[in-house]
Amino acid sequence: MSRSKLIAGNWKMNFTPHEASLHLHHLSEHIDEHSGVDVVLCAPFVDLYSLSKEIDGNKFKLGAQNLHPAEAGPYTGEVSAAMLRGLVQYVILGHSERRAMGETDEFIAQKMAAALRHNIKPILCVGETLTEREHGATKQVVLDQLNVCLADVTAEEMDQVAIAYEPVWAISKGDGRGHTATPDQVQPIVRAIRDHVKETFGAAAAQSTRVLYGGSSNPDNCKAFLQIDGVDGLLPGGASLKYLEFAQMVKIATELA
Ligand code: PGA
Repeated sequence: MSRSKLIAGNWKMNFTPHEASLHLHHLSEHIDEHSGVDVVLCAPFVDLYSLSKEIDGNKFKLGAQNLHPAEAGPYTGEVSAAMLRGLVQYVILGHSERRAMGETDEFIAQKMAAALRHNIKPILCVGETLTEREHGATKQVVLDQLNVCLADVTAEEMDQVAIAYEPVWAISKGDGRGHTATPDQVQPIVRAIRDHVKETFGAAAAQSTRVLYGGSSNPDNCKAFLQIDGVDGLLPGGASLKYLEFAQMVKIATELA
C-alpha cells in the first residue's frame, strides 16, 4: 500500500479572516487539481469557519493548529475537538512552539485521543532542541515523545496519524539565519520514527503512518526532503504564508507522488 503525500501549511498566528480568504483565493488560482497529494491549510481558529465556506474540498483540506482535550467546560479561551469536528479534517498537535509554552507529552496524548475520537487526523510534531542534538540525544528525545504522545492510540488508528519530525533548531530559519537541517540529518530520525511505529503498533501501522519533515522547508529544498526514503510530506510554516512558494511546493510534491 502506498501512502499519499501530505503537504500541510502551518500558518501559525498569521492572517485575519479577510487575509485568510484572500490567501485562499490566491492559492486556488495557483494550485491545480492534483492527485496523490493531500494539501492541508492549518489556519488560526478564527479563520476556519469562513475558509470552510470558501474552500474547494477537491484541492484543499482544512486543519487546526491545536485543540483542547476536554469535550466542553470551564476552559476559558480553549477550543475542543467536538467544536472542530466537521470543520477541519486535520489538527497539528504538540508543535514545539506550544511545547515551549509548557505543553507536556502527557497533555498532547490526551489531545491525540480527543482528535481521533472526533475523526480529526492529528499531525503530531516531535523533535529535539539544539542542545539535545549536541548532546547526541536526538533519537532518544524523539522516541520518548512518541512513546508518551502515542500511548493511547491503537494500531488501527495509526493510519489516521501523521508524525512530523521538526527539529526545533531548524524551525523559522527560512530567512537564511542559523542552521537548517540537511537530508542526511533528517533521514535517520525518520527511519527511527517508522521503526518505532513498527515495534509498537506492527508492520501494517508502520506502512500506513505518514511521516513528514518540517523546519524551514521551501521550494528550493523541498525536493531533497521529499526524496528521503520514508518521508511522505512536509509541514512548512513561513513558506506556507507565501502563495507562490506554497504552490510551488505542492507542484513539486505532485510531480514526485
Ligand atoms: P518553518 O515552520 O517552515 O517556518 O520553519 C515550520 C513549523 O514550525 O511547523
